[in-house]
Amino acid sequence: MRILLVTSSARGHALADALYRSPQKPELIAVSPSRNPGIRRLAKEQHVMDIMDFPKLIDLAKKSTIDFAVIGPDDPIGGGLADELEKVDIPSVAPKKALARLESSKGFTRDLMKKYNIDASPQFFVLTRHESGPSGRGNEDEIRTILNDLNGHYVVKYDGLKGGKGVKVSGEHLPTIDDGVAYALDCIEEGGRVVIEEKLIGIEFSRLAFVSGSSVVPMPAVQDHKRAFEGDTGPNTGGMGTYSDANHSLPFLTSDDLKQADVINQQIADAVMKECGEPYKGILYGGFMATKNGVKVIEYNARFGDPEALNILPLLKSDFVTICQKIIDGSLTQKDVLFENKATVCKYITPKSYPDAKTEKGETVAFPFIPENARLYFGDISENDDESLHLEGSRTAGIVGIADTIAESESIAESLCEEVQGPVRFRKDIGTKKLIDARIAFMKKLRP
Ligand code: AMP
Ligand code: GLY
Repeated sequence: MRILLVTSSARGHALADALYRSPQKPELIAVSPSRNPGIRRLAKEQHVMDIMDFPKLIDLAKKSTIDFAVIGPDDPIGGGLADELEKVDIPSVAPKKALARLESSKGFTRDLMKKYNIDASPQFFVLTRHESGPSGRGNEDEIRTILNDLNGHYVVKYDGLKGGKGVKVSGEHLPTIDDGVAYALDCIEEGGRVVIEEKLIGIEFSRLAFVSGSSVVPMPAVQDHKRAFEGDTGPNTGGMGTYSDANHSLPFLTSDDLKQADVINQQIADAVMKECGEPYKGILYGGFMATKNGVKVIEYNARFGDPEALNILPLLKSDFVTICQKIIDGSLTQKDVLFENKATVCKYITPKSYPDAKTEKGETVAFPFIPENARLYFGDISENDDESLHLEGSRTAGIVGIADTIAESESIAESLCEEVQGPVRFRKDIGTKKLIDARIAFMKKLRP
């Protein structure tokens, strides 16, 4: 069996690892924008090419007699790679373009939720370009009124894929109403639409699921840490680290929170199938916030999270290749998916100056021996012919500790991260008791 793995980053390495572990012994034909040392060791072939060059990709897929494709990142999924592969009879574990609008258009998702009575959105407004105003900025008055009506507690979202950088939050990135108006107008100018939302207060978590039409099978819940520095400060990043618990929930959630998230994921899968007239097949990533008034949707993604995949995939006891086959043929059920009851903590090693600069690019980095109870997944890193490893500009590698408790997993990940040699850093606080206790206390205060 031959699987086309379209990927980049540590998430791609984790996907390759999960496929490689299959008793079906698939051959992986990996395509990525740069040579990933982890994937190189697992794949039969690794092709370095632009993963948005669909004609070239299709050509390679046809020549390689591929059974099915697994597509990791948002850009090729949002751009419709699954549609192109289907035209040459290669099925994908990834939704087609229309269904992937769950991620590629925030306005689509909010409108879908409204249309299908999925009651988990904050107050929201989807505005499209209004040409009548002075110099094409005709939405200004409307935007100002909305931001004032939300009492200055708002979030402005670019309505398209922007590498996780399209969302700006009042008080954090947008200090004044004028800043909010200016950013919303920029979004409209660039993309023709903007989404403005009420700013929710609560704690975020990720609940991913394997989806095949109306069959929605949840994975362990994960908490991500997007801010660059300790104490959740600094700019947003792709995610500095994550943790999951042995019971597959999170310490600050009630079982009802998790049930609500699962019901919403099911409703979304059903709604998007009805709306698009075909089943969603792939990974559904619900980004939620537990609030005073229940669980709300922050965003949807049409793919595995990074780093979430690094926590989830090592725990998968079932054969990932079988899960992929069942997603494709529509026969997936809960009993096909078993996860170990272990806790995980993932910490990302990044260049010292990440995310502000790329001053360490090219410098050598070396990793310690990785024991059985840990994983090392390579991200934005390059490998020389002598197998020495060098930093690129973005997140270098995820180190995951796996144990019975979050505390033990944290200490495994932490001590391995300490041993990495090179001009790198990581967030020491992710997965620590202090940080988790603070989350529990916050939720207790929010809903006594
Ligand atoms: P998104 O790309 O939609 O996940 O947004 C990025 C980040 O912005 C999220 O992880 C949240 O921290 C924040 N965010 C997005 N929407 C809201 C909202 N309605 N209320 C509060 N924070 C939000
Ligand atoms: N962990 C955030 C994301 O993958 O979008």
